[in-house]
Amino acid sequence: MNTTSHTLLSPYASKITGTGSAFPQERLTNDDLAKKVDTSNEWIVERTGIRERRISRPGLLDEQNSSLACAAALKALEMAGKTPDQVDQILYATVTPDTLIPSAACWLQKKLGAHRAWAVDLNAACSGFVFALSMADQFIRSGHVKTSLIIGADVLSSITNWSDRGSCILFGDGAGAAVIERTDGHSPHRILSTHLGSDGDLWELFHMPAGGSNLEVTPDAYSKNLHKMNMKGKEIFKSAVRTLSDYALLAIESNQLKPEQIDWFIPHQANLRIIEAVAKRLDMPMSKVLVNIDRFGNTSSATVPTAMDEAVRDGRIQKGQLLLLDVFGAGLTYGSVLVRW
Ligand code: ACO
Repeated sequence: MNTTSHTLLSPYASKITGTGSAFPQERLTNDDLAKKVDTSNEWIVERTGIRERRISRPGLLDEQNSSLACAAALKALEMAGKTPDQVDQILYATVTPDTLIPSAACWLQKKLGAHRAWAVDLNAACSGFVFALSMADQFIRSGHVKTSLIIGADVLSSITNWSDRGSCILFGDGAGAAVIERTDGHSPHRILSTHLGSDGDLWELFHMPAGGSNLEVTPDAYSKNLHKMNMKGKEIFKSAVRTLSDYALLAIESNQLKPEQIDWFIPHQANLRIIEAVAKRLDMPMSKVLVNIDRFGNTSSATVPTAMDEAVRDGRIQKGQLLLLDVFGAGLTYGSVLVRW
């Protein structure tokens, strides 16, 4: 595990100065899904908390992964008072890039006109935004970068097995963005700690067999849906509750805090029951937990930045508050970041 509680001396710290979100227009409700697979609105709401999700329409330029990210990034830059040519670095967390070559980050750089920035994709699945935030923090604290644009964006509908009722009910498409800027190392308003971890031994709980260099999408692989997400839901559920709780406590304890001092808990949105179980373990009332899974489903790397952006824009998140971002994802990958807003 990589642990950084920021006691190490650096003249710099990093601060989130802008957030933004974008979603495709088309809503897919549980009733719509019940027309495709053997399920019902009641089952999905009771077992997951999801009521609807947004789905990108294939072929629509505005709803490509990097176009959604571009819309989210422009909002985040506007909030931060920055223009695209002031961005030094684009870290783009996704498992569904527009194309494998070039990266989604380079598509975004072109669409934004962020000509000065270097741009790269990161794959940590649903944990991606927190991994990108941690890396941006490191680049800023080391003095190499002043302004970073980080993205969590996924078009999971493109890799969802729409004939598997055990998984297709969960996922949706969306993009979140944040501008991270250099601030004074002693500023109270900064990223306070980052904790990241991975466990490749558990790869089989959530994987996509075809589409990488191991296995091409041959007609046989295609007919078996091997180019779509394959998930062991029950096992992931248990692992998620345990690791989200562990990483939340790591962040809290390494900053000598108590759970009750956290103002907003922003967990990955994979299943409302997972979120509720973690909140219970942390003794955190649900009134302090940001939730958007009911309207958007699991949008992978986009869940945390879009939930955070919504609460920034509607005024729930206030200056000086403590925010705990907490994630898990395929890989498996885990992480938490503590921020004083
Ligand atoms: N509608 C109706 N019935 C269903 C559906 C459905 N959509 N899906 C499964 N069932 C049935 C099953 O077939 C089973 O029936 P049986 O008892 O006759 O065999 C019954 O419902 C119970 O199935 P379970 O799998 O035990 O249901 P569970 O309560 O575990 O819920 C779920 C399944 C929603 C997938 C849950 O396990 C879950 O959310 N797991 C975590 C998934 C996750 O987080 N994925 C992403 C992780 S990483 C990332 O975010 C990229």
